[in-house]
Amino acid sequence: MSDNDASPKPVILTGAQPTGRLHLGNYLGAVRNWNAMQDDYTCFFFISNQHAITLPKVPAELRQNTYLCLAQYMACGLDPEKSTLFAQSHVIGHNELAWVLSCICPLGQLERMTQFKDKAKKQISVNSGLLFYPVLMAADILLYNANVVPVGEDQKQHLELTRDLAEKFNSTFSPTFNVPEAYIGKAGARVMSLQNPTTKMSKSDPNKLGTVDLIDSADVVRKKIMSAVTDSEGSVRVDFANKPGISNLISIFAAVTGKSAQEIEDEFAGKGYGDFKKCVADAVIATLDPVRERYERLIKDRAFLDETLKKGAEVAQRVAFKTLSKVYRKVGFPEKIR
Ligand code: AMP
Ligand code: TRP
Repeated sequence: MSDNDASPKPVILTGAQPTGRLHLGNYLGAVRNWNAMQDDYTCFFFISNQHAITLPKVPAELRQNTYLCLAQYMACGLDPEKSTLFAQSHVIGHNELAWVLSCICPLGQLERMTQFKDKAKKQISVNSGLLFYPVLMAADILLYNANVVPVGEDQKQHLELTRDLAEKFNSTFSPTFNVPEAYIGKAGARVMSLQNPTTKMSKSDPNKLGTVDLIDSADVVRKKIMSAVTDSEGSVRVDFANKPGISNLISIFAAVTGKSAQEIEDEFAGKGYGDFKKCVADAVIATLDPVRERYERLIKDRAFLDETLKKGAEVAQRVAFKTLSKVYRKVGFPEKIR
């Protein structure tokens, strides 16, 4: 692993909560893009387990999910030889910087965050971590002076806050942070539920047939795709308004094969949905089989996963301490003599 801190390449950073199982939407809409960035950027990818506890978690599951997610990300292609992979809780600095940023962050701006309002509505009592969460996210990003932050649409507002806080810190004290850009994946990268194709494929979908998990067996993947909702017209063509199910399958097929929608329409002209779905299933299985095989090998090798987290945390910690000491100096904390 190279010392990322010394590299002149732009910095890409993103975090993901340890949710357990990743699905095809996460892969095609996010992780696959991150893979492609590893050669051109200095990349930091971390599991945001401190964000995860803003909502109640079972400790044993949270711990295990960190490993499950790491193994799945690595199985998808995130490579600890190229990128820094780490767990947020292993690095000192995220919370320290979050505290400093909270002291320049207006309370009203946090109260207006749509994700906070949505999540708070569903809680009986709202903890202050839920409100504070976007400040911790800003600290995650600014601690590594990220230039580009790949996120889903739902995190765009948090990125705006991060940019505001970076600018405010820079103008209140002196230029310190890059003002990071959000990288939102292409619209075509939106994978919809197989059962309800007008909503996004999501881990919280109560209908398990709607979501293809990365580590589903080939049989399960085939079953889910063969039972995907379609329409009664019987022709394989893109029409998101009237044929969302078939259009979604065409997008998925295009994403995993690299074919264009037009090529797919031509290939399946005059053929039935059964034939088409079988080909989609074959192509998705061909993409996911190697991912699942790598995952199964990795998840059994806890020592290797621990070693990966350890090395990642060492690299991240060096950068984190450097930024933090700069920030502490700028806000007026005396230097700690060692
Ligand atoms: P989440 O699972 O919501 O935490 O999202 C993690 C990443 O996967 C984000 O970058 C999302 O934009 C992406 N993602 C999640 N669901 C989908 C989907 N159905 N289609 C495309 N990308 C998705
Ligand atoms: N809040 C993000 C989510 O729930 C995860 C996250 C935490 C993150 N810190 C980040 C994403 C920093 C990008 C950059 O999906």
